[in-house]
Amino acid sequence: MRSHYCGEITSKELDHEVTICGWIHKRRDHGGVIFLDVRDIKGVCQAVINPDNAKSFAIAESLRNEYVVQISGLVKARLEGTINKNMLTGEIELESIDIKILSKADTPVFPLDDYQDVNEDVRLKNRVLDLRRPEMNHRIVTRSKITSTIRNYLDENDFHEIETPILTRATPEGARDFILPSRVQSGKFFALPQSPQLFKQLLMMGGLDKYYQIARCFRDEDLRADRQPEFTQIDIEASFIDQKYIMQVGEGMVKNLVHKFCDDRLDDFSVLDWHDSMRDYGCDKPDLRIPLKLVEISDLVMNEEFKVFAEPAKDDNSRVVALKIPGGSSFTRSQIDDYTNFVSKLGAKGLAYIKVNDKTDIENGLQSPILKFLKDETVSTLLSELSLDDNDLIFFGAGKSGVVNLSMSSLIKKIGEDLDLYTTKWAPCWVVDFPMFEKNSEGNLTSLHHPFTLPNCSMDELKNEPEKAIAHAYDVVLNGYEIGGGSLRVFNADMQKTIFDILNISKEEADSKFGFLLKALSSGCPPHGGIAFGLDRLVMLITDTTNIRDVIAFPKTQSATCLLTDAPSKVDDAQLEELKIISTHKEE
Ligand code: AMO
Ligand code: AMP
Repeated sequence: MRSHYCGEITSKELDHEVTICGWIHKRRDHGGVIFLDVRDIKGVCQAVINPDNAKSFAIAESLRNEYVVQISGLVKARLEGTINKNMLTGEIELESIDIKILSKADTPVFPLDDYQDVNEDVRLKNRVLDLRRPEMNHRIVTRSKITSTIRNYLDENDFHEIETPILTRATPEGARDFILPSRVQSGKFFALPQSPQLFKQLLMMGGLDKYYQIARCFRDEDLRADRQPEFTQIDIEASFIDQKYIMQVGEGMVKNLVHKFCDDRLDDFSVLDWHDSMRDYGCDKPDLRIPLKLVEISDLVMNEEFKVFAEPAKDDNSRVVALKIPGGSSFTRSQIDDYTNFVSKLGAKGLAYIKVNDKTDIENGLQSPILKFLKDETVSTLLSELSLDDNDLIFFGAGKSGVVNLSMSSLIKKIGEDLDLYTTKWAPCWVVDFPMFEKNSEGNLTSLHHPFTLPNCSMDELKNEPEKAIAHAYDVVLNGYEIGGGSLRVFNADMQKTIFDILNISKEEADSKFGFLLKALSSGCPPHGGIAFGLDRLVMLITDTTNIRDVIAFPKTQSATCLLTDAPSKVDDAQLEELKIISTHKEE
């Protein structure tokens, strides 16, 4: 239908006849002459229609924005003064036009010829129109180029692309499962995979050596700006390898992408021990572009009269930390109130602070509501331990470690953004040496990654002190986003049974849920391990957005609905009956 893309015609085609197809981006009537901007995936091209071309002129007069047309014409140089240097096609225009309307369009819900910040719900409801916006078009196309670059990289490294089932059993990754009733076997359900974890391990046991998949995963969990209920992983597994190998492959892949798509070279990733990361940043996904760190001050304030600090300082499950903000003494009362509000939404009971106006004068040079509760000696140790200078401010977090870590790590990221403290464009790192288990709110041990992770200790050590066990697990973090995670895997049935035991999974439950895995582990299992990257998050960072929905063609909202198709939706009673399902849901 076309000889050229609209966005690709240049002076090289001067005096050639070309045919383009696309959408009417804009129509302008100029003293009897009509100018059309026609848009396709590659850009916009201008066509000029004079009244003496009566047939085309009549059609051009009837055109509205977003009509789809086919236009043939001669490529001519634009007159001096009408050249647009900002467009690739800005030196030419099409003349002697023949126009055919391929389809008409209703008036668009939001304009495309003029950028407007449109409410996201409106964009998602009208996703077809939204996808035509150049920035969206660009992101979706970049995503496709990124996946093909990843495929090439992994193919070159001897990985095989293998598909695994979507209709399957539960694969535990810590979220709820989406389940799907079976019609043929009524009363039974499939689960959609939270990840291909078990299948990729089975492939290693099946001798396939190196696997990858651009895999769709499904998790019924609370959504956030960087989370979707269905998302895509670059899922990788290899046999007869060590942790270093997987880290090399993963790091190479990310460096390759950033180099190709952002024209930047990443330094070698720094490696952070999980405990150090939690101590210094309060989280396992620190944004290392921000030069702010927590300092543990429990020992210093343990014997103070100020109970807000002293009590958590003495408790094993609590901590007291200080956070130095260089130049922060200029924060106004209302800024400090806003930050206090911010941390209190995350569970913190307050946000004590000290402003340093003159560090040499403890009595009059500091400003703080808590000075009266602290000994001068403590304050002066604090000033020197934190290397405080005039005009700095210290924030304090005290309480249960979980709350302090969440609120203070979020505060670091917020202040980093508010004050634009970023010292570099990219800060990748590995976080390693995770504990095998953590205690949930009911006090039971749960896997920090998943139950198939290999511990870095003997089976006896694991049994005796499970809480002390360190895992062969690693996460990749880029600019504060967890973009990937993986581990070496248990490759021995007895070790796997021990882990199920520690997790309070009975023998019967383990046999019924994971019998196939235990059997395969006993059939000659190679040592193996792998990693999965979140493709959506990677594309988000590479295309410079903080909204995961901008890099997914048809995403779900924060309440897990598709506004375009209105899914999820009700099903017919007949369908439920066929599946032998009775709904107990009551309309409000
Ligand atoms: P994990 O659960 O860490 O590991 O997932 C790997 C990566 O997938 C991305 N991710 C998500 N992206 C968008 N929306 C979500 N809801 C979401 N959940 C996870 C993250 C994360 O780092 N089977 C293991 C991997 C392995 O051990 O090999 C797994 O799934 O970027
Ligand atoms: P209060 O004694 O509760 O009035 O608190 C005195 C100061 O300590 C105030 O500035 C509070 O914001 C702060 N504060 C209270 N609880 C905490 C906490 N758990 N962590 C950090 N600061 C706190």
